[in-house]
Amino acid sequence: NKTTTILAIESSCDETSAGVCRDGKILSNRIATQKVHEQYGGVVPELASRAHIQNIVPVVELALQEAGVTLAEIDAVAFTKAPGLIGSLLVGSQFAKSLALALNKPLLAVHHMQAHVLANLIDDPKPTFPFLCLTVSGGHTQIVLCESTSQMKVIGETIDDAAGEAFDKAAKLLGLPYPGGPLIDKYAKEGDPLKFNFAEPRIQGLDFSFSGVKTSILYFLQNAGKSHMYKPEFLATEEEKNKFIQDNLADLCASIQHRIVSILMSKLKKAAVETGIRHICIAGGVSANSGLRTALQEAGKKHGWKTYIPDFQYCTDNAGMIAITAYYKYLAGDFDTLSVETTARAEW
Ligand code: KG4
Ligand code: ZN
Repeated sequence: NKTTTILAIESSCDETSAGVCRDGKILSNRIATQKVHEQYGGVVPELASRAHIQNIVPVVELALQEAGVTLAEIDAVAFTKAPGLIGSLLVGSQFAKSLALALNKPLLAVHHMQAHVLANLIDDPKPTFPFLCLTVSGGHTQIVLCESTSQMKVIGETIDDAAGEAFDKAAKLLGLPYPGGPLIDKYAKEGDPLKFNFAEPRIQGLDFSFSGVKTSILYFLQNAGKSHMYKPEFLATEEEKNKFIQDNLADLCASIQHRIVSILMSKLKKAAVETGIRHICIAGGVSANSGLRTALQEAGKKHGWKTYIPDFQYCTDNAGMIAITAYYKYLAGDFDTLSVETTARAEW
């Protein structure tokens, strides 16, 4: 009765993560979050690469320790091959390749966006194929039609900002620190989601756009609530603008969240209608958003969907999702050679 034990590494952006999976069960999922970027209001690629180099050995050791697994028991080594910051990806891929070479074990190169989707297969209850997954993070917004663990198709995606980016940029306009998404969520709980009405994009098909919402928030704040459009005659002073934000923070956050969530949900509903699929998942860091979670549950009840959201530790960037995806690749015998390419590009 041979078991399959996989060590997985994720280093695509600003999280250094290592995890161990045995026969489809996640034994550990350690994540080192890089604090260094906070002061810059966004991820600084060069600093991310350096922090990965510092973090990777201790994080792998912790993951093995927590799983109670030694390197000798590892059957394969997995890593994130794309997409992401190239300097960050290379730290994880070179580490994984070196380890696979040293242990003389097979290598499994995993696509980060497929892994976000398959995070839904970690815990029970699991969706059945085919299912739809709305993957929403700081870097991506996609609707994926998932037919099997290896067959996935992007049927809709953002043409400009990602949903998390929209949250973070709106938060920045409100003067909130980075990443502001969770803060908007927090203040929104006390506010009226219908108090302010921000632009709804008119984009055909299943694609998303968030740049219009961002612009409408920008002008609305610049005009201290007097107009959503560029109107020089309404331009407020810095003081007036800040007072307007201070006096209306909860309502602003609730209304911004309401609009971003409504954009996401309307395309997800459209995708469900067009495909006839009723198993609906969400994934990625923005799936932590309470407005989105509630909207998904309500839509589930209304349209007869079965809905799924991975445990939060498997929603943000993590090695557990890389490990589960690698496990299915392993079962399919879909191994990679040491020369497999690591790329920043998002193509599947
Ligand atoms: O998946 P993730 O950790 O990293 C990326 O791969 O991008 O997602 C991070 C994004 C950030 O934009 C953050 O603001 C957003 O997810 N986020 C939230 C919430 N929690 C995280 N946005 C809105 N509400 C939340 N509760
Ligand atoms: Zn991600």
